[in-house]
Amino acid sequence: MSTAWTSRYALRTKGITSSAIRDLLKITQRPGMISFAGGLPAPEVFPAERFEESCHKVLTQNAASALQYGATEGYEPLRELIANNMARYGIKAKVENVLMTSGSQQALDLIAKLFINRGDRVLVEAPTYLGALQAFDVYGADYVSVPVDENGLCTELLEAPLRSGPTFMYVLPNFQNPAGVTLSEGRRHELVLLADRYGIPIVEDDPYGQLRYEGEHLPPLVVLDRENLCRDNGYSIGNVIYLSTFSKTLAPGLRLGWIVAPPDVIAKLAQLKQGADLHTSTFTQFVAYEVARDGFLDKHVKLIRQVYSERRDVMLQALQEHFPPSVTWTHPQGGLFLWVTLPEGLDIKAVLNSALEQNVAFVPGDSFYANDGREGSRHMRLNFSNAQPEQIREGIRRLATAVKHHLAMGQEMPIGV
Ligand SMILES: Cc1ncc(COP(=O)(O)O)c(C=O)c1O
Repeated sequence: MSTAWTSRYALRTKGITSSAIRDLLKITQRPGMISFAGGLPAPEVFPAERFEESCHKVLTQNAASALQYGATEGYEPLRELIANNMARYGIKAKVENVLMTSGSQQALDLIAKLFINRGDRVLVEAPTYLGALQAFDVYGADYVSVPVDENGLCTELLEAPLRSGPTFMYVLPNFQNPAGVTLSEGRRHELVLLADRYGIPIVEDDPYGQLRYEGEHLPPLVVLDRENLCRDNGYSIGNVIYLSTFSKTLAPGLRLGWIVAPPDVIAKLAQLKQGADLHTSTFTQFVAYEVARDGFLDKHVKLIRQVYSERRDVMLQALQEHFPPSVTWTHPQGGLFLWVTLPEGLDIKAVLNSALEQNVAFVPGDSFYANDGREGSRHMRLNFSNAQPEQIREGIRRLATAVKHHLAMGQEMPIGV
């Protein structure tokens, strides 16, 4: 007799589905498809040669340690390098404030594991990063959503949601995924003050902060929190846990991210990480350290900024050229995404079907909302980092054809993807 596996799954897996983006990514592998759907970095800028040299160096000079089990907190020289890099952005973390994770996706999972009891409310942005919702869902999170506008999270709408006692706020201050918007400096100050007033921690997710193409760098929340709110000189108080990753600055295949938090929180997260994977790959951490050291990471980030800012500009220009005036979009100052708003009444799933027929893909906005996906039904998330400029021009032309077709037809029923 065969086992009825589904009836044996734990209750916490109920309602967990595959990410719409990961499913869509399978379709985008089709030949001839121009995909603005994934959040993929440009493979042309992966520093493959530097990786090759670094792997060689690690294996010839340090194989005994690099191939061995390692500390759960991570490889100390790498944690130190990260702490030194972050210091330039004003984040005064010490090694003991840094926990290496298997991508910042694992950081989100560990944070959820640590803080969320079934039925607890998490305050999220609307729209927000889909992968965070996936991580929080498993632990039975409920959500309170607060909208973002062109200046990021609408802090003036926060008081009532904060009074409802969320476990933490999950915030993406820089070039938000999916909307591409940035939290203004004024709102950053307001946010940390509100967090302090209501005693609600902030999880600050910052994978894109270094990828700024215009404007001034803005202080991370974790910095403002320390400056404004620290009641003694230690780092062990404060309301912000900060996350970042090498996925967008070196390579996502490394699966290397990190958490910055007070040492007692790091110690608890490390215990949870032991149950998940003992530690992040030692070999990968040794290699990443060799790749990043001696100023290479800085030089490389400069190159990435150059390549992506050109692609962003090409996409903005193509949108301007091909889309009708009733369609609007955000102007991201950095990161990988922009967010397009279509006129009321269009069915985004039907637009996606037509776009896929034209061999161009985007992610429909409804995937990025915690409570009511209908809010996203007029939006598309477009990624500009992964396609070459020529493909971007052609892809936007095709997408505009699909959108104009639906605008001409008026409202229709979804036909499913
Ligand atoms: C906002 C945000 N957080 C976390 C992640 C996960 O990144 P990582 O590759 O480090 O797991 C992503 C990936 O796109 C992201 O956009």
